[in-house]
Amino acid sequence: MSDQTRHDEELSSEISGFYKLDRPTRLKIIAERLGINPVTLEEILNSGGLSASEADILSENVLGIFALPFSVATNFRINGRDILVPMVTEEPSVVAAASHGAKMTRQGAGIIARCTKPIMIGQVHLLVPDSEDAQKNIEKAKTEILEVAKKACPTVVSLGGGPQDIETRVLKDEKDAFLVVHIFVDVQDAMGANIVNSVAEAVAPLLEKTTGGKALVRILTNLADKRLVRATASVPFSALSSDRVSGEEVANLIAKASRMAELDPYRACTHNKGIMNGVDAVLVATGNDFRAVEAGAHAYACMSGRYLPLCKWKVTGDQLSGEIEMPMAVGVVGGATRSHPLARLSIALLGAKTAFDIAQSAVAVGMCCNLSALKALVTEGIQKGHMNLHKRRKVLEV
Ligand code: MEV
Repeated sequence: MSDQTRHDEELSSEISGFYKLDRPTRLKIIAERLGINPVTLEEILNSGGLSASEADILSENVLGIFALPFSVATNFRINGRDILVPMVTEEPSVVAAASHGAKMTRQGAGIIARCTKPIMIGQVHLLVPDSEDAQKNIEKAKTEILEVAKKACPTVVSLGGGPQDIETRVLKDEKDAFLVVHIFVDVQDAMGANIVNSVAEAVAPLLEKTTGGKALVRILTNLADKRLVRATASVPFSALSSDRVSGEEVANLIAKASRMAELDPYRACTHNKGIMNGVDAVLVATGNDFRAVEAGAHAYACMSGRYLPLCKWKVTGDQLSGEIEMPMAVGVVGGATRSHPLARLSIALLGAKTAFDIAQSAVAVGMCCNLSALKALVTEGIQKGHMNLHKRRKVLEV
């Protein structure tokens, strides 16, 4: 991939009628953006990017490859920059919903995304004889524990990250007292599971010695609530009008549907599923661990004690304003991000240099899928568009 890929900031992601073009023409456009030959791109994509022998290295007991459609969502403007977003999903409507949602948001200022520092949490669960004493002793030994933790992840420390702090919680049931030690680790541009798991395993013997306890479980938590992405978008009413319904009316109906998801966990679950349709598709395309993000997203949705929607919409002035916040444990290094050729291609297409670049794209796509789904649900219903796209796949059925 040429340096031209980094990155065609001045090129618009609004490629008019992209979905109506034939596949070779779409390939040509994307190859141009990537600065590679369309024939080369076609070759990579036809093989799914992975040979059976490469697949054999990635997993165990491998027989072959299970391919999925690789698509590109258009119209995204995130933090003032136009990007084309790679998505891998077999579900009809998801890429169309993402692109349609992005089109509506770019009629405002697009999507604005912010993130916290990339702090992941390692957990050590200890069975301890006296939880109060154990907490006090850990507090006293904090510097020593952090030193041991740092030695377990020298690379990320040398990059300016690494273990930052320790926190303890006590959990009790009728029989036992558990001490939960949280180690906060700045994992920089990695997803961080390996870094954090190494840290948790490295400090466990010292924690046992300090508390007189027994370490039971030493692993990260996927509830990465210190590693959040928050994105907002304001959509002018004029971008929302539908066949016979005014933009203002659509905005009010979307806001009500969003409120309903706050009141009804049954609806919130489906609302969030639609968000994760988009988030996961970007994570799969970029070789990230979508199961980790799924787990974190649903746990985060429950943080208040009730299962809530991750993305909310309300009417403010003459706009529909949306806000989404969720944990995003993703990386541009590690996992399959560098070992899967299509993940490398996706990361190049996004122009992603940092984990946050991937995270903000995934969250933006999730938000846009949600906006499109809500708009369809409160107007013509989801089935009309959905069934048209479903019909096309009938030719493949046996
Ligand atoms: C379908 O995969 C996703 C939707 O159900 C999302 C939603 O209902 O908000 C359409």
